[in-house]
Amino acid sequence: MSRVYNFSAGPAVLPEEVLTEAAAEMLDYNGNGMSVMEMSHRSKAFQEIIGSAEADLRELLGIPGNYKVLFLQGGASQQFAMIPMNLMKNRVADYIVTGQWSKKAYAEAAKYGTANKIASSEDKTYSYIPDCTDLPVSDDADYVYICENNTIYGTKFKQLPDTKGKTLVADVSSCFLSEPVDVTKYGVIYGGVQKNVGPAGVVIVIIREDLITDDVLPGTPTMLQYKTHADAGSLYNTPPAYGIYICGKVFRWLKRQGGLAAMKKRNEKKAKILYDYLDASRMFSGTVEAKDRSLMNVPFITGIPELDAKFVEEAKAAGFENLKGHRSVGGMRASIYNAMPEEGVEALVAFMKKFEEENL
Ligand SMILES: Cc1ncc(COP(=O)(O)O)c(C=O)c1O
Repeated sequence: MSRVYNFSAGPAVLPEEVLTEAAAEMLDYNGNGMSVMEMSHRSKAFQEIIGSAEADLRELLGIPGNYKVLFLQGGASQQFAMIPMNLMKNRVADYIVTGQWSKKAYAEAAKYGTANKIASSEDKTYSYIPDCTDLPVSDDADYVYICENNTIYGTKFKQLPDTKGKTLVADVSSCFLSEPVDVTKYGVIYGGVQKNVGPAGVVIVIIREDLITDDVLPGTPTMLQYKTHADAGSLYNTPPAYGIYICGKVFRWLKRQGGLAAMKKRNEKKAKILYDYLDASRMFSGTVEAKDRSLMNVPFITGIPELDAKFVEEAKAAGFENLKGHRSVGGMRASIYNAMPEEGVEALVAFMKKFEEENL
């Protein structure tokens, strides 16, 4: 067996310990004589799996009792519609557009009411986070929406926007569980798990209870109402059971690593290795304003598309996978999520140095 260093933006690297445990339990989960994949979601064994996954997530993030945790499907993209359908009581919402994902969420919300773009960084190809200290928040806005970490562009809100008392809704898909979070600052935190938490197919929504009501937009399908899933403990219909089981293992792995404060330290150390090199390099450079750099997704370029392509190809041959930038921006991007070991980043930087020497 040989495993590569996988810098994919998602689905992405998972902790080897988690994969090894899952492999050992594949044919017989905990004496049940079957895989979790083959198990009824109403069984006692699965009730324990989802129950302890939720309890561990609550412990990791310090989720207060007045927030529900929902394990849903449809990816982060389905939330682009579910959020306005459930929260747009006044049919007004404010969006801060810092990349493709918040742009898509904004466009989706505009189908249901008035979506206001109250700040954007589109003018400089989303290479920064706009100043959000005094935004023109609409008086009747039902919520203010952000994408907290911009997977494609590699920017991160280091400070949450001042929403002037309005409910904050955040897509945290690509920074989920990478650092401690004060959940009380948000009305809704959600993310697809396929970057930092588990396999594709699960989206986790953490939502304040008062936002879960029957008062949704007319025509909202039962499956797209938060209340449906909250009332049923995420078991209204068959949930993505195997994915939830792997997420549960990742939560336990995170606890063993020392929790989110320890992960933040580790992630800062890893990112610094790469950013320090990018700042010193004569060939490679980062594409994002230093103050807004993500700890999770690090885009970089040489400035010469042919050289970028050569780098990606040679890196792949040397065991560094998925370094090509998003198809909409080109260049390179190293996603260095929780499960990417520090050695992986060090090895990448050593490879980049060698490439620089050989090609400058
Ligand atoms: C920040 C962010 N939001 C939303 C999405 C869309 O996620 P999904 O493919 O689960 O719908 C992605 C996917 O890469 C993402 O990075």
